[in-house]
Amino acid sequence: MSFNNQITSEEETLRQKEIMERLKERIANISKELGRPLTYCSICFGCQMNAKDSEKLEGILETIGYVRTDSEDCDFLIMNTCTVRENANLRVYGRLGQLKKYKKKNPHMMIALCGCMMQESLVVEKIKESYRHVDIIFGTHNVFKLAELIETKLDTKGMVIDIWEGTSEIVEDLPSDRKYSFKCGVNIMYGCNNFCSYCIVPYVRGRERSRKPEDIIKEIKELVADGVVEIMLLGQNVNSYGKTLEPKVSFAKLLEMIEEIEGLKRIRFMTSHPKDLSDELIEVMANSKKICKHLHLPVQSGSSKVLKDMNRSYTKEDYLTLVDKIKTAIPDISLTTDIIVGFPTETEEDFMETLDVVKRVRYDSAFTFIYSKRTGTPAANMEFASTDEQIKERFDLLLNEVQNIAKETCARFEGTTQEVLVEGVNEQDASLVTGRLSNNLLVHFPGTSDMIGKFMEVKLKESKGFYYLGETV
Ligand code: 5AD
Ligand code: SF4
Repeated sequence: MSFNNQITSEEETLRQKEIMERLKERIANISKELGRPLTYCSICFGCQMNAKDSEKLEGILETIGYVRTDSEDCDFLIMNTCTVRENANLRVYGRLGQLKKYKKKNPHMMIALCGCMMQESLVVEKIKESYRHVDIIFGTHNVFKLAELIETKLDTKGMVIDIWEGTSEIVEDLPSDRKYSFKCGVNIMYGCNNFCSYCIVPYVRGRERSRKPEDIIKEIKELVADGVVEIMLLGQNVNSYGKTLEPKVSFAKLLEMIEEIEGLKRIRFMTSHPKDLSDELIEVMANSKKICKHLHLPVQSGSSKVLKDMNRSYTKEDYLTLVDKIKTAIPDISLTTDIIVGFPTETEEDFMETLDVVKRVRYDSAFTFIYSKRTGTPAANMEFASTDEQIKERFDLLLNEVQNIAKETCARFEGTTQEVLVEGVNEQDASLVTGRLSNNLLVHFPGTSDMIGKFMEVKLKESKGFYYLGETV
């Protein structure tokens, strides 16, 4: 199978839209018979890519006539799964067990599973054997086919399973149900070619494929026309965007094109791999009026030896040099990261190197994970240099250090006035609204729901560690 050519399959889009039209009628008929609307519940685990896929699935379900509910006691339950760490899988099995009772009560109920976990054949085998109340299983490559799979299920008795090994197809222009009216994620690429030795993503999300710049720009322009002011460009490694395109387009160039879009106010992106972060990108970020002052730059480990074993393609020194370069070019940038503790070859000494990086970079926040063995990845065959107890101790130490530093780092903007985008009414105190700063931190301040989606100038009066309290000026 070739993974290098991008096919924007207009025919496939049309075909799926026709199926949706047919289904709309069928769902309306069932609903009439029952004398009530059919409901769907969408559960999503994992990263922003999954969140974006779930918006697409929800868009299809809404189009064919299902009405959203938060209750799992519904007519169509879709669970978008993650498999990046073992505990994500365990949560899915737990949840599935609990769903049996709803299915017994409601013969119309369908349960669908999709996402990264379904790309693993052992998982599908287990579901086929032990969770026979599941109706539809599909993976990461054919999210656009949901309507077709539902149609097949309505016409057949058994479990409908459709897992693709990989794809070079990118199906554009299907419905999507956006969570927020003012901000939205936009896929710019799919898959990953990096094969970090601990990571299952390249196996379940397939090879890297970039969307054409013109398709991305068209989507963003439509979003802006619909009221979106902030976009988050999504990819496993956005810095290698465009390498598979003909002609090649760098991520920095794409950002420059997006910057030109009138009405768009903020541009975010994730995730950046340190090995591909170019000087060109730093320059574009430094000169941009729209790119937010935040960079998520996963370090994973501070030890050059462990980084080599992880197949990360940079050393501790490379990473620190890169961070210096970024901080010099963009002094008020917020840096965040991902760190894995307890990678098989990590010793106490290696861990100290990680702590050293944390102390030197002074991240605004860091996601810390204990290494989780993923069958099929190279690291799964490596011997452990440390015991579980030692790893747990390191994890606690790291978390403590990260949190203490983050508290101090985040407070550095206290007293300044910043532009924030208001995202919603505060859940704990309805007299407050919550806004997001360019650097991704949140500020709570007195306000009303009509401010949602608007930019306001807010004085950051008091830092609370990971957020601020403020007031409009
Ligand atoms: N174990 C623990 N953490 C992992 N991650 C990816 N694979 C694993 C694993 N096997 C973490 C990395 C990555 C983040 C999304 O998840 O830190 O950046
Ligand atoms: Fe996994 Fe590495 Fe690809 Fe990120 S860059 S998705 S950690 S393989």
